[in-house]
Amino acid sequence: MATQNNEASYGWPAKALHWGMALLIISLVALGLYLSGMPRGDAKSELIRLHASSGVLAFMLLLVRFGWKLCQPGPRPLSDIKWQVVLSKLVHWAFYAVIAAQVISGSLSLMTVGWDVPFFGLFAIPTPYERDMALHHYWEGWHVAAWYALASLFALHMGAVLFHQLVGKKRILKRML
Ligand code: HEM
Ligand code: HEM
Repeated sequence: MATQNNEASYGWPAKALHWGMALLIISLVALGLYLSGMPRGDAKSELIRLHASSGVLAFMLLLVRFGWKLCQPGPRPLSDIKWQVVLSKLVHWAFYAVIAAQVISGSLSLMTVGWDVPFFGLFAIPTPYERDMALHHYWEGWHVAAWYALASLFALHMGAVLFHQLVGKKRILKRML
């Protein structure tokens, strides 16, 4: 399997990062939604630590993927229609921005209740804040807004994949498999 992206397909690093992160982000959303319905207590705190650590991991992978994307142009656009090419680039870049916003807002919402941001017990990013519930609710609001934006991008992304694959009869999935 090719390492570099080429005209027709993504190389293996882009594919591995895409599917690894897709799995991680879908699990993070499921865990976040589950968490938000839990009563306070040790079990919830433990799951928040797992959610936060996995979110930091997603951010590290995002940085690697961003660097790789900058030095590796993607395959040729599948469509010749200008607005579709522009929309697909916009959605792809917006994913990067929204995932970063999700991690930053989540970290700030945790830091403003006085928690350090953990990473699987290996290290923790220390909080510069005293407990400040008004600021906590502010960042929590951004964390929820970021997840709505992520869900909207995901719907557009799935719509485009299904459209090209089923209606346009173009083998878009093969480029990422
Ligand atoms: C939260 C989950 C997902 C995210 C954040 C995501 C993000 C992205 C991004 C940013 C790209 C552009 C390439 C790159 O920058 O690496 C891309 C391409 C692609 N994604 Fe996803 N994706 C997700 C889930 C999925 C799923 C579930 C499918 C399939 C059902 C899928 C199918 C594809 C395909 C086929 C491409 C290549 C598009 C092309 O050739 O232009 N993605 N995805
Ligand atoms: C891409 C990464 C992330 C995704 C997709 C994600 C997603 C979510 C979602 C969907 C929720 C539920 C929101 C709701 O109530 O509607 C949530 C809650 C939460 N997330 Fe994240 N999150 C991510 C990263 C982080 C990070 C890095 C942290 C902290 C360092 C964090 C901390 C929290 C906290 C504290 C909650 C609220 C739990 C509660 O209700 O008390 N998240 N997250």
